[in-house]
Amino acid sequence: MEKSFKNGEILRDTDGNVLHAHGGFILREGSVFYWYGENRVENRYVSVYRSGDLLNWEFVRDVLTTESKTSEYRVKTDLRLVNEDGGKINIERPKVIYNKKTKKYVMWMHVENGKDYSEAACGVATSDTPDGEFVYHGCFNPYGFMSRDCTLFVDDDSTAYFISASRNNADLHVYRLTDDYMNVDCLVHRLWQGEYREAPAVVKHNGKYYMFSSYCTGWAPNQCKYAVADSMEGRWSVLTKIGDETTYCTQLAFLLKLQGEKERILYFSDRWNGKDYNDSRYVILPLEFDPAGQPILEYREEFLP
Ligand code: GAL
Repeated sequence: MEKSFKNGEILRDTDGNVLHAHGGFILREGSVFYWYGENRVENRYVSVYRSGDLLNWEFVRDVLTTESKTSEYRVKTDLRLVNEDGGKINIERPKVIYNKKTKKYVMWMHVENGKDYSEAACGVATSDTPDGEFVYHGCFNPYGFMSRDCTLFVDDDSTAYFISASRNNADLHVYRLTDDYMNVDCLVHRLWQGEYREAPAVVKHNGKYYMFSSYCTGWAPNQCKYAVADSMEGRWSVLTKIGDETTYCTQLAFLLKLQGEKERILYFSDRWNGKDYNDSRYVILPLEFDPAGQPILEYREEFLP
């Protein structure tokens, strides 16, 4: 049993294999955490691991692969899981949320054709269980817009939002989703026009909404910034820097809020290796807040849950 994780070291699952869940997301079900993320090995797209302690991760399944089942949900979606040359497409930043009405686990992700980043589409997949095989419902451009780096956020009233980089990453769009989380219902915001924000993630703390994002420099790390709002559809503040100028050589994947006796928020990030993607690492840091509600992100060598 692992007792801690040294940030930036190779993270292995309980079988001793390298854990591939990049640009990912954690969904909590009771005492079990499910970590979904990119896995680019062989025919895989998204894998899921489970853990009770956030340190010892058991590989469960490849939830999305080139062989996954597909099912049309809306017209004009591209259902292909391989491109016209028979090669892999590119699936990035998968996020999974649970829909109480439909009882489905719904995944949203960024989809490209595997050759370049010209599709700029978002994809949707669903499963009846958190660790089952997901059925792919295809990808599309929401309202015709480009959609690249993305995240999902579910508010206290179960309204869900999909946030993604648009206009060649210059603007960050916030879409309210339909009740079943299967489609965009409304474009709520076009934030920080021309600021080129990527890798978004949202967390609610003390009644306020905090959105974190990186700048747009490919695999190279840059400084994370955050903004605050009183509600998801309300007015967002300007961007404020956090961490150091490379955010400790990381790019945000997602924020995990733990509600025990004391609320804790964890910053899960990728330390990408642009030359050898499969050797990308993880850095997990506590996200803290000062009494004025300003978030603080400091580097720690080790992650102790
Ligand atoms: C990053 C983005 C990653 C990946 C990469 C490709 O900026 O956050 O998810 O798309 O660019 O260069």
